[in-house]
Amino acid sequence: MRMDVLTLFPEMFEGVFTSSILGKAQEKGIVSLSAVNFRQYAGNKHGTVDDTPYGGGGGMVLKPDPIFRAVEDLLGRTEQGTVPRIILMCPQGETFTQRKAEELAREEHLIFICGHYEGYDERIREHLVTDELSIGDYVLTGGEVPAMVIIDSITRLLPGVLGNELSAVTDSFSTGLLEYPHYTRPVEFRGWKVPDILLSGHHANIEDWRRREALRRTWLRRPDLLERMELSPKERQWLEE
Ligand code: ADE
Repeated sequence: MRMDVLTLFPEMFEGVFTSSILGKAQEKGIVSLSAVNFRQYAGNKHGTVDDTPYGGGGGMVLKPDPIFRAVEDLLGRTEQGTVPRIILMCPQGETFTQRKAEELAREEHLIFICGHYEGYDERIREHLVTDELSIGDYVLTGGEVPAMVIIDSITRLLPGVLGNELSAVTDSFSTGLLEYPHYTRPVEFRGWKVPDILLSGHHANIEDWRRREALRRTWLRRPDLLERMELSPKERQWLEE
């Protein structure tokens, strides 16, 4: 899979793309990540990529031409037959979720467009992008951190990226529930003990306990998630207790 980012600050991506799991995923050839400065497509000697808004008002607006040309250059270099999704990072976009990460992880090629401080000329939205994504209801200084968040969550879903394949499947949200509590050694720390059931070696009881704790935690912290879940009669009973 290939993911390209168009940004005025490609240096922000350096450590993120080369470290830890993303770095290893690239070394293994599972994913190829790049950050491209779209200022090089400005087409003027000052490298101007923004301008004042028609109709007046404050702030600057990203011009369509450099962004269109940057995307078209990437498309020209795309393997024949693959049609990339072109994703605009903005607070007005659809809120990114684990479900969206799973959907995007099935694509061959994604292009992310990141604005910084400015708005986008509306023709970018109308005639270039296929998706608009937000990472939540708050405003950041630019789309770079949101693009990193999304690229990270997609990469870890790609087959072969996580050492333990199970971990992406049992994640919070993939199961529809928050995760159950985890413990490791020592069995007693400052007087706080690991629940006996986890030491019992009884796998069926442990699975039951984990499912019950995941339900309990979801009910306490994120009851909205339970509204969309199909629960077994036994699980409904647990919630009523
Ligand atoms: N750009 C600024 N804020 C953003 C957000 N919350 N999500 C995506 N892009 C953004």
